[in-house]
Amino acid sequence: MSHAGDPQPMTSRPSGSLRGEAQVPGDKSVSHRALILGALAVGETRITGLLEGQDILDTAKAMQAFGAQVERQGPGEWSVHGVGTGGFGEPETAIDCGNSGTGVRLIMGAMATTPVSATFTGDASLSRRPMARVTDPLAMFGAEITAREGGRLPVTIRGATDPVPVSYRSPVASAQIKSAILLAGLNAPGETVVTEPEQTRDHTERMLAGFGAQVRTETTPEGHVVRLTGRPELRAQSVAVPRDPSSAAFPVAAALIVPGSEIRVPGVSRNPTRDGLYTTLQEMGADITFENDRIEGGEPVADLLIRHSRLKGVNVPAERASSMIDEFPILSVIAAFAEGKTVMNGVAELRVKESDRIDAMARGLEANGVRVEETPDSMTVHGMQKVPGGGRAATHLDHRIAMSFLVLGLATQAPVSIDDGGPIATSFPDFLPLMQGLGADLG
Ligand code: S3P
Repeated sequence: MSHAGDPQPMTSRPSGSLRGEAQVPGDKSVSHRALILGALAVGETRITGLLEGQDILDTAKAMQAFGAQVERQGPGEWSVHGVGTGGFGEPETAIDCGNSGTGVRLIMGAMATTPVSATFTGDASLSRRPMARVTDPLAMFGAEITAREGGRLPVTIRGATDPVPVSYRSPVASAQIKSAILLAGLNAPGETVVTEPEQTRDHTERMLAGFGAQVRTETTPEGHVVRLTGRPELRAQSVAVPRDPSSAAFPVAAALIVPGSEIRVPGVSRNPTRDGLYTTLQEMGADITFENDRIEGGEPVADLLIRHSRLKGVNVPAERASSMIDEFPILSVIAAFAEGKTVMNGVAELRVKESDRIDAMARGLEANGVRVEETPDSMTVHGMQKVPGGGRAATHLDHRIAMSFLVLGLATQAPVSIDDGGPIATSFPDFLPLMQGLGADLG
């Protein structure tokens, strides 16, 4: 379902110290994958801690449309009765993936090697985003694909009747591309191989192995290689979704920039393919402690303790970009409060996210008195002692841009407003009450 309704303008105001515990929602990437693999497995998959944001609800609906039985049994508790590898039926209506690039790309992969047809649509943001990066390799499996001009949605896929396995070297470090190919490879006989230029988040590989598929990974001079043996019998599992480090980044950032703050964020995923922001913050001098490191549901998790900190600007190396690809908007806000400049390198992919995130952050920060420089693939933010604020940011249907500017306004001299907070519900439905519970003045 697309983000519907009128724009919801919101404002955040300079706040007193933040205190308390932030129970952030389940990981978005893991939630999509749990529903999709549950739908492809035989038997009942039970999921706890599922993110109930709109992106995930759209994926749940899509899995039902392909024939899986998907039921909500309580808050974050879901049951999926799968149809087995290759068992998808043909949906009766178009699959609307709303705002979610991950949803649409992974589901296209999951159905591309099954002989059914489906048409995929999305909201205005998703309809602008490139799909050929996924549909080109999916066509190599034997799927027939038509798209709008420039490889955009709506896309119609007639899944391959006799799929062949594929070896694909991705030009872009993208977990969505890798995952779409691996999910397609599930129903192709033989070995499907994906090589990515840098390792990206590995939730698909971990979860496929957990459901009983054979997955092997290797780092070579050419890149990170993932091999999957096709046609496994996926066995239903219990999946405990860890809390999302990308969502945790917003209360973490707020605590770092609002003087006197001290908060805890329990049970956050510390998957090493997702921890680039936390490495960067520690280099900036952030007071972050990781407590009770443990494994939950196959993923490393920890409780975070964060205190307000004096920060200094750093150079974020391009090799780290994929491990914090969704965190650059909020890092650019934190960087505005650091001493000196913060340079973010190798971030061209930000231009094809829910919005052009380099442009959206640069314009919004400038409107609030912060100096920013950009190139096609980098962004530099000049920190200052007192950040003026007082501006209004355009959020372009992008949840992370909306939350980033609301966090900014908690520590600026004057309030910060955004044109539309509606899309926050795609990934963090309880963002406002959670932040208000810590003492933040926003709404
Ligand atoms: C995701 C991968 C990333 C990320 C997105 C979630 C995933 O996109 O930006 O929010 O779950 O696979 P890319 O892999 O295309 O960079």
